[in-house]
Amino acid sequence: MLQVVEVCKGWEGQEVLSEVSFELKKGEIIAIIGASGSGKTTLLNIIGGLMKPSRGRVLFFDQDVHSQKERDLNIFRNRKIGFIFQTYNLLSGLSIMENILLSANIAGLSSKDRAKNLISLLGLSKKDKDLPGILSCGEQQRVAIARALINEPEIILADEPTGSLDTETADEVFSLLKERVKGEKRSMVIVTHNKRLAEEADRLFLLEGRRLFKVS
Ligand SMILES: Nc1ncnc2c1ncn2[C@@H]1O[C@H](COP(=O)(O)OP(=O)(O)OP(=O)(O)O)[C@@H](O)[C@H]1O
Ligand SMILES: [Mg+2]
Repeated sequence: MLQVVEVCKGWEGQEVLSEVSFELKKGEIIAIIGASGSGKTTLLNIIGGLMKPSRGRVLFFDQDVHSQKERDLNIFRNRKIGFIFQTYNLLSGLSIMENILLSANIAGLSSKDRAKNLISLLGLSKKDKDLPGILSCGEQQRVAIARALINEPEIILADEPTGSLDTETADEVFSLLKERVKGEKRSMVIVTHNKRLAEEADRLFLLEGRRLFKVS
């Protein structure tokens, strides 16, 4: 469903990604590991249509993601991609419920029941009216996960989604994500430093020296 074809990205003569290629199939989970600064977030941003590659292409069902008109690109990001940002990117003036519902509202979907269900699954039931600022990092991370899942995206791009969670909660959250992918035939690219979780993916890649290597 998604093909990354010889993607390169650089800034001011410094190349971060060089000829990165892989394919993501329906129902598949790919994990990417790599040192800090190796370009993992950059690659997810390019896949999700948030950043243009310097060279190469990203194809979603054979459609070139980055050659779409801005309006279509926005629809692609809103409806097809669920982005779990490394830094959460929650809107500080909106409650937890409002943060989760924002992209559903943009899509014109009525998703209150689904939001309530996700809030409960992620153990945030008493927090739905709170502002993000008073939540712990782990709680904010779980809000970011609920927000990414609200529009039932075909591809989940998860940038260290369990980085702020204790082992037990990390396992629970990963199981929830895995269940969504496997049970509902979605796909996921997960960046993680958690070796145990990385090994649960269908395929594992290492980003090193600007290139992507298949580990397993
Ligand atoms: N907008 C930008 N302008 C210039 N350089 C950038 C920009 N965004 C990222 N970079 C550089 O690209 C490199 C890769 O950054 P990236 O955030 O993708 O790394 P990462 O693998 O996600 O690291 P981490 O594990 O710390 O999150 C870094 O050296 C960073 O400084
Ligand atoms: Mg990163």
